[in-house]
Amino acid sequence: MDYLKIQGNTKLNGSIDISGAKNAALPLIAMTILAKSDLAITNMPDVVDIRTLLKLLQNLGASYTFEDNRLDINTSEVHHTKATYDIVKTMRASILVLGPLLARFGHCEVSLPGGCAIGQRPIDLHLKALELMGAKITIEAGYVKAEAPEGLVGCDIIFDKITVTGTANIVMAAALARGKTTITNAAREPEVAQLCEVLKASGIAIDGIGTSQITIEGTDRQLIDMSSFSVIPDRIESGTYLCAAAITNSELTLNKVRIDHLGSIISKLEEMGFKFTKEMNKITIHPAQKIKSVDIITQEYPGFPTDMQAQFLALATQAEGTSTIDERLFENRFMHVSELQRLGADIKLNGHVASIKGPTTLSGTDVMATDLRASSALVLAALVAEGETNIHRIYHLDRGYENLEKKLEAVGAKIERLKE
Ligand code: EPZ
Repeated sequence: MDYLKIQGNTKLNGSIDISGAKNAALPLIAMTILAKSDLAITNMPDVVDIRTLLKLLQNLGASYTFEDNRLDINTSEVHHTKATYDIVKTMRASILVLGPLLARFGHCEVSLPGGCAIGQRPIDLHLKALELMGAKITIEAGYVKAEAPEGLVGCDIIFDKITVTGTANIVMAAALARGKTTITNAAREPEVAQLCEVLKASGIAIDGIGTSQITIEGTDRQLIDMSSFSVIPDRIESGTYLCAAAITNSELTLNKVRIDHLGSIISKLEEMGFKFTKEMNKITIHPAQKIKSVDIITQEYPGFPTDMQAQFLALATQAEGTSTIDERLFENRFMHVSELQRLGADIKLNGHVASIKGPTTLSGTDVMATDLRASSALVLAALVAEGETNIHRIYHLDRGYENLEKKLEAVGAKIERLKE
């Protein structure tokens, strides 16, 4: 297994190009199951989760080429509809094939994803919504078995909780259903909005894109003639590198970003004393005179993203005073705390609220990544820690960050990837 060796307390400077958004690309790849013919998708991030979903689709019969961040995919030969445990257990977002497979073929089996480091993460809301659309759903031997031999029927769906992949699943199912579907309490994340925009550009009647109420007029199982498109920039990767600059109090420019997707992240960094220069799709963060403490509550978009919680927790160790972070979405998303404490951070956990006292001098040591965003928080802490930090189990990091160590090395970080 690989690990990262980072020599801390370095300043960064220069610019980083942001990659396409993993969490936009995953539903967009699942959406190709609804396409009538070949489709080209550019700005596709080359990360493990993307390769995993492409492998799953290939197992179902799809064919694709993926190089230089361009995916050419054809799903016309998809004939199998069983997403097996061996792949699904490695990536829970595989559940995104459930809606499209069921809508197109009238039957499918998808392994239950199983647990995950950050929480139980059930899929009950996905299943309840598909049943409302006429699917017969049973759970057999760890698999979701879904059947709708006459096709799905559009209806009014109200999600009890806002669910990102749940909304994506139902948008895709509704696109091929008979009649109109209204989703209330829909997720407003930009990744869901792009899925809707691509479907709308391909002729699907969709209203309410980016709002909490989306209506979709289905094609009654007619496959969709889709034109090629580019994946939106990754707002969480962008936020992670802004935090890398912030924690080392450096000036750094990010290119190829969507500034309009970074609102809550930028406003929290401004609260902490950082300044910004914003241009079209470029943003520069400038050092703070003094890094101020901050209070954060994670919420659904456009609120502060839970996927940035770990990164800000690391940053808060360098802020003056006590910061609080209240994690409202996942019940176990503080796995990075004990690793940060090993680096010397002064953090107290009280249920789903973390209190972080700063500034504390962090000292490099060996730490272990536990999940995707926790891993990036350890990288940030290592950049500012005195001495050397080795971060183990970085396969978590490779799931969602393209060329992280190369991007950081290019702006001055002393970071290398080695073999255990
Ligand atoms: C998506 O996960 C993202 N993953 C996650 O990013 C992100 O943390 C999460 O949304 C929240 O923003 C992808 O887009 C691939 P949810 P998802 O369904 O869709 C509960 C990363 O780091 N819930 O919005 O699985 C659930 O337990 C990953 O890139 C139900 O109770 O999250 C959670 O408490 C980590 N029943 C809350 O809703 C359901 O049927 C939000 O979950 C579905 C969800």
